[in-house]
Amino acid sequence: MADQRPTIFVTRRLPPAVTERLVETYDARLNEDDHPLSDAELKAGLADADGVITASSTSWDEARFASLPERVKIVTTFSVGFEHIDLDAAKARGVRVGNTPEVLTEAVADIAMLCLLGAARRGWEAQSMLREGRWKGWHTTQLVGMELAGKKLGIVGMGRIGRATARRAKGFGIEVHYHNRRPLGAGEDEGATFHANLETLLPAVDIVSLSCPATPETMRMVDAAFLAKMRPGSILVNTARGALVDEAALMAALDSGHLFAAGLDVFDNEPNVDPKLVRYENIYALPHIGSATVDTRNAMGFCCLDNLDAFFTGKPLPFGLV
Ligand code: DGY
Repeated sequence: MADQRPTIFVTRRLPPAVTERLVETYDARLNEDDHPLSDAELKAGLADADGVITASSTSWDEARFASLPERVKIVTTFSVGFEHIDLDAAKARGVRVGNTPEVLTEAVADIAMLCLLGAARRGWEAQSMLREGRWKGWHTTQLVGMELAGKKLGIVGMGRIGRATARRAKGFGIEVHYHNRRPLGAGEDEGATFHANLETLLPAVDIVSLSCPATPETMRMVDAAFLAKMRPGSILVNTARGALVDEAALMAALDSGHLFAAGLDVFDNEPNVDPKLVRYENIYALPHIGSATVDTRNAMGFCCLDNLDAFFTGKPLPFGLV
């Protein structure tokens, strides 16, 4: 007998605990080997789907929604970021969209601190020296970096992740400043100093950390002019989206010595990272692992499943965008 349960097309491999729960309730079409799906495979997968679990590696633009079979009624993304989904097009087509907010806040803030520490204490250079057998012994001027206690951190985008980063930074004795569309109320702002614009924030801090989403307004926000306003010898940290940074301008600022270092978990054009960028010894680089803990990845998957369960039982999406 044909499976009467809703059919869910899944574009990326899911954590085992999430797959286990998914298949209990749904007729799931999985991408077990996690290969990049061709357009033909996507089209075939969507043809008989009632819902989709997707991720930021698949673009959901106007054309995709326009050609979506009538039967597909919900798309839930395994990410907090949703810049890959045209929400207006989804709304126009009557498709519900969900994401995974909140559950990755702490994990991403941990990685912001790892990037910050890695950049400030020359983590990449130190590791390479050790692993490549170039360490010839301790000396007083070797690999000296930036002391963090007493320094100032400027967080651009004081949402959940920005605030969690601020909490951690305070524990390191760092004074926190931030720029946001609106000032946060006392108690919400982690005691950080608000700057209404970047003009005052950037020259006031030693480290700038990006925690804002990629939107048409923030795209390439970190350009030559932005970097020039940062303090000489300062550090840029990006755990948000590669598209926020003009990577050529960043390399120029590192070449000139204007920036001391950068800590990056995200890149433009992932996974085809500019090879020139990852050769910089003063870039502490990670391959987009912000949310990569077992607990967080399971929780992200469960958010997707909670969205599906709510939708197919006629309830509002707990993590709905549209
Ligand atoms: C997110 O959840 O947005 C992560 O960066 C993965 O895309």
